[in-house]
Amino acid sequence: MATGSGKGKTILFGEHFVVYGLPALAAGIASETTAKITRVRSFGWKLVDKRPAMPGYKEKKYEEQKASIENMLKHLNIDTTKTGFQIDLGGDLVCASGIGASAASCVAIARALSEEYSLGLDDDQVNETAYIGEMGYHGTPSGLDNTASTFGGLIWFVRDLEGGPPKFEKMKLGKSGNLVIASTGLTASTKVVVGDVKKKKDENPNWFISISNEYNQLVNDAREALIKLNFIKVGELMNRNHELLQQLTVSCKELDNLVDIARENGAIGSKMTGTGRGGNMIALAPDEVTMKKIAEALKKGGAAGVWTTSFGL
Ligand code: MEV
Repeated sequence: MATGSGKGKTILFGEHFVVYGLPALAAGIASETTAKITRVRSFGWKLVDKRPAMPGYKEKKYEEQKASIENMLKHLNIDTTKTGFQIDLGGDLVCASGIGASAASCVAIARALSEEYSLGLDDDQVNETAYIGEMGYHGTPSGLDNTASTFGGLIWFVRDLEGGPPKFEKMKLGKSGNLVIASTGLTASTKVVVGDVKKKKDENPNWFISISNEYNQLVNDAREALIKLNFIKVGELMNRNHELLQQLTVSCKELDNLVDIARENGAIGSKMTGTGRGGNMIALAPDEVTMKKIAEALKKGGAAGVWTTSFGL
């Protein structure tokens, strides 16, 4: 029997743009998914998924999850035709779109498999295996989610468009930021939404270049503002990043509503995070009292799940 874990994450800046080689800033969060592998006498593998989840999440992702596990087994050359195993998934990360739930489970499973089969994977190899797993969910993921899930902290991430390993830098801030994460309760397929953005980009390349240029400046400004602990500036940039994501058509009225509620209740900045068309939004709060006020307002305003956390350390 062996166990492993992977952290949830939130994208502060860069969902969708990261797919096209622009930098993203992501943060690991304290909640995580755990995986336990127990060998069984029968062949094949069986999944017992006890992760807490938003209604409908697990059902919607099940086929992709199966493909993801098969991908990782193939990558690690694990043969289950003679002895199989059971995977028990658990932990305190509530599965919802946008919180890195699929990546966290890939990282947890990769770590547990490494231990059970004495593969000795280091964190870079766990990250690589989880990326292969993520392909079962996303088609061509950027690798951002599995990197944040493997390493935690704050991650500056740039995908290599030639297919090489991503460049990422682990960062730490002098002081943590207060973050509220809220779920719309809706689950969208990353593969479909990323595909729709690609279609729009291909139809109108100049429009996409102009949005990408603005985003590129924005994320570099955000990095500098974070390092200087200028959270007011970070908040402004989050608001503008949300507008750019609206232009990519990946937000939706439920996300926009939660983003507005957070701002009306004292958030310095707020935006959707992750795939969009449902999933989650994040709000940066100036202090813990305001963070709780924002969380309450989001609950009253119809969020299906609300979590308060911190990032940066
Ligand atoms: C999904 O959490 C983030 C996207 O940018 C896709 C990806 O990075 O693979 C939408």
